[in-house]
Amino acid sequence: MSDSTPRRLLIIWWSRTGASRQLALACRAGAASAAAPVQVRCLRCDRVRAADLLQADAYVFVAPENLGSLAGMMKAFFDRLYYDALDQLAGRAYAALITAGSDGEGAQRQLERIVTGWRLRQAAATRIVRLAAQTPQAILAPKQVPAQERLAARELGLALAEGLAQGIF
Ligand SMILES: Cc1cc2nc3c(=O)[nH]c(=O)nc-3n(C[C@H](O)[C@H](O)[C@H](O)COP(=O)(O)O)c2cc1C
Repeated sequence: MSDSTPRRLLIIWWSRTGASRQLALACRAGAASAAAPVQVRCLRCDRVRAADLLQADAYVFVAPENLGSLAGMMKAFFDRLYYDALDQLAGRAYAALITAGSDGEGAQRQLERIVTGWRLRQAAATRIVRLAAQTPQAILAPKQVPAQERLAARELGLALAEGLAQGIF
């Protein structure tokens, strides 16, 4: 790769009630604010193609936990592209953000296990953002992610972009 080729960060997200989407957008904004040029893309998981995965240098996965595991649409993304990308992403960096009501650890375990199969390298500890919705009405209501969690997502995006630009990832 020539020095003038910008490195590429791909943010892949799924969201039903808005929380994960807000985190993905905050992460994108942070990455876009990096001093060095890094190409940042933010794609809903059902729109990601194999070429998008193969062309990126690092990834952020953002998704909710549903029924103790990764939200089905995010799982379907991995199911759909797992073998297209197998053995082609080894060593690339990733981070993950999980939104949840009160848990999130099942989704975290599942995601980390899947990307271990791709031999991705964890660049930051997975962050679980718990929004404490308990009743069916609250769970299905549109979400507002607290400002400090959006800030943390923004800082994650910036750190990954800076790390990519400096060749750390
Ligand atoms: C069908 C369904 C199942 C859920 N299961 C869990 C769960 O197992 N554990 C948990 O902590 N939260 C669970 N939640 C809550 C969501 O993870 C939480 O509301 C999250 O913020 C949704 O993210 P989103 O706004 O990006 O869609 C569930 C929500 C739905 C709709």
